[in-house]
Amino acid sequence: MPAARHRPYRSVLYIPACNARAMEKAKSLPADAIIFDLEDAVAPAEKDAARAALVIALQGDYGARARIVRVNGADTIWGAADLAAFARHSGADALLLPKVGAAADLDAAHALAPEKPLWAMMETPLAMLNAAQIAAHPALAGMVMGTNDLAKDLGARHRSDRLALQSALGLCLLAARAHGRIIIDGVYNAFRDDAGLAAECAQGRDMGFDGKTLIHPAQLPIANAAFAPSQAELALARRQIAAFEAACSAGQAVAVVDGKIVENLHIVAANALLRMAEAIAAME
Ligand code: COA
Ligand code: MG
Repeated sequence: MPAARHRPYRSVLYIPACNARAMEKAKSLPADAIIFDLEDAVAPAEKDAARAALVIALQGDYGARARIVRVNGADTIWGAADLAAFARHSGADALLLPKVGAAADLDAAHALAPEKPLWAMMETPLAMLNAAQIAAHPALAGMVMGTNDLAKDLGARHRSDRLALQSALGLCLLAARAHGRIIIDGVYNAFRDDAGLAAECAQGRDMGFDGKTLIHPAQLPIANAAFAPSQAELALARRQIAAFEAACSAGQAVAVVDGKIVENLHIVAANALLRMAEAIAAME
């Protein structure tokens, strides 16, 4: 798997580890990453069987898709067994810890699985207030917004503009970017509402999220399109690079494209966009 920052995470699909059919199906689905879930999508009576099934399923071929295992919390009777099962499992690219509230909540998993990148569910009010220290943890690779849990704890109502969640989304995004981590937006519950999902993806993309967590295969193409650079963005990036190179050759530090100023910082962004398009092409 390429380094976290240089691979796409447009679509991150949750699959309950108790659903063998869905785990098999995912080998051919256009997901950039998969979260194999042992936590909330698995009923208590099925936890042990789901863990055992996942150990075997992860020996299968998921291609370039990043394989992330969401374990049960350390405060549950399943948490320790989950960590033990996947700490050294070569099929798990990363471990996702639920209900992380502070950086210290990552220490025990990091001690058990020192080779595994850790991801944190950002889904409690305390996590929002501690987002900077969580993002700074040396083992942390990525953050996943747990917007359903967060809305519950806040007492927030669902709004299509997610106004009630903006401060939380913004805080986590700031923390992730300050420390160079991946950050994935929360799920869209109404999995048959394509227009609603597209609008929420557009909002997340505008804010700067790397991608969206998804619950159903029908959501994949919508997130993949929303979080990929568009043809227009790529064409503009190429024109900016060409214009800037010409300006530099003429001894200038600034170019103008479509009546807008182009400086070195725009070229950094343009190159990042082109690299992401290449990484997406390599996935597909
Ligand atoms: N990943 C992979 N495949 C999935 C899937 C998923 N998350 N959700 C559904 N599928 C598959 C089904 O197995 C089915 O495959 P089949 O046609 O080969 O039988 C196909 O997609 C169509 O499924 P559908 O009948 O439309 O959905 P459903 O009613 O079976 O399931 C949900 C709906 C929401 C229960 C299911 O999508 C799901 O469990 N999602 C994940 C929930 C989750 O992980 N939550 C925790 C994080 S919020
Ligand atoms: Mg949760």
